[in-house]
Amino acid sequence: MNVYDSDRMEDLMNAIGYETSNTPKDADMVIINTCHIREKASEKLFSDLGRLLPFKNEKQKNGGQMIVTIAGCVAQAEGEEIFKRSKVVDIIVGPESYQTLPDLVGKVLREKKKQINLEFSANEKFDILPESKVGSSVSAFVTVQEGCDKFCTFCVVPYTRGAEYCRPIEKIVDDAKMLADRGVQEIYFLGQNVNAYRALDSSGKSLGLEHLIEKVATIPQIKRIRYTTSHPRDMSDELINAHHQIEKLMPFLHLPVQSGSNAILKAMNRKHTRQEYFKIIEKIRQKRPDIGLSSDFIVGFPGETDQDFEDTLDLVRKIGFAQCYSFKYSQRPGTPAADSKMQIEEKVKDERLAVLQKLLTEQQIAFNQQFENKTISVLFEKEAPKSTKKSVEKIIQLWGKSPHLQSVVVEVENENVAQKLLGKISQVKILKARPSSLVGTLFTN
Ligand code: 5AD
Ligand code: SF4
Repeated sequence: MNVYDSDRMEDLMNAIGYETSNTPKDADMVIINTCHIREKASEKLFSDLGRLLPFKNEKQKNGGQMIVTIAGCVAQAEGEEIFKRSKVVDIIVGPESYQTLPDLVGKVLREKKKQINLEFSANEKFDILPESKVGSSVSAFVTVQEGCDKFCTFCVVPYTRGAEYCRPIEKIVDDAKMLADRGVQEIYFLGQNVNAYRALDSSGKSLGLEHLIEKVATIPQIKRIRYTTSHPRDMSDELINAHHQIEKLMPFLHLPVQSGSNAILKAMNRKHTRQEYFKIIEKIRQKRPDIGLSSDFIVGFPGETDQDFEDTLDLVRKIGFAQCYSFKYSQRPGTPAADSKMQIEEKVKDERLAVLQKLLTEQQIAFNQQFENKTISVLFEKEAPKSTKKSVEKIIQLWGKSPHLQSVVVEVENENVAQKLLGKISQVKILKARPSSLVGTLFTN
């Protein structure tokens, strides 16, 4: 979601004459788009600001002005506090109000005053945003839903991103068509709770995410559709069926469970049990036996006992995941769990995380290994950075994605072949599985 927002801010700034730079040196504007989900992510902001100061001073010495903008969820959560903690910052803008960025920049330049806008206006945001130009040319994100009403007791999202809001179906389909016309082949539907998506069609009927997928699947140039991130509570039978019926819907599902213990799930206010999660997985495997499963886990949630943690390991062993994210519980100010008196020691969290990650890595390797010696379709996205043309003879490595969202690396002999493959789907024979990628060779009959 933050990558998507960063791309849109780039669109907005390009529209008023700014160009993207790879360095803060000499920049007229620096935007730091922040994440507040865990403490570590938000701490990064202040160390980044410290590093920015010399660049801002240098720019001023040379008679210029560097405008520093803090965007994203740290901006939303900390607001004016950021001005107090750092003199470097000129603009603070939230994730639901960044469409006003050009206006705020104008005010800073004209009125020489710092600006802040933290309003929630998601629907207005999408109406104002310019046509997107920034982003990978093959695969594109389309936001379909924003915000969250679930209020898990550990999570800041309902506070920083606000209430659930779904974009109208027609607007999303228009976005997808526009992207398809520009050569995009893969659409990634985004939302904090994407499978809770509901909107009215032109006849007033309420439709879910599966209808949106079905509609976008009729666009001939779009070959692949994905969505993230989902909540078990909203995993409807219709959406599960779509994984069987719609060929363009890729066989991969990111469905965060967070914990395998019913006591912890309850304390987290997750609104689902371990048994319900198993049931969903069983149903989806019936409809799509080859589905790659992914999840998020939190270890060391307040009150988590050894047995609770064992239940998480047990759930992981029973399901078998393709690829997962796991985190130590991080106390977020303003969330209910942060005030719990049953916080878990850091050392215990570290130990549990190491055990869980070892198991998840083993599963990821096993998942990848089943593709060795198989031929799969790969959508080639880019040349690997290593192969920058230092020497003409140098082998070129291309990166692409498998249907199961694995990164696939293929070596090709020259630039002509690379250009022919980029942006297209080709058949690749997998030679070797690595922990987080597959190495293959172009399949020839
Ligand atoms: N501590 C640790 N992890 C968290 N997440 C969200 N809030 C916290 C927190 N306070 C994780 C959840 C979520 C993912 C995006 O981040 O696993 O699914
Ligand atoms: Fe946060 Fe996801 Fe829970 Fe919403 S459903 S509160 S985004 S963890």
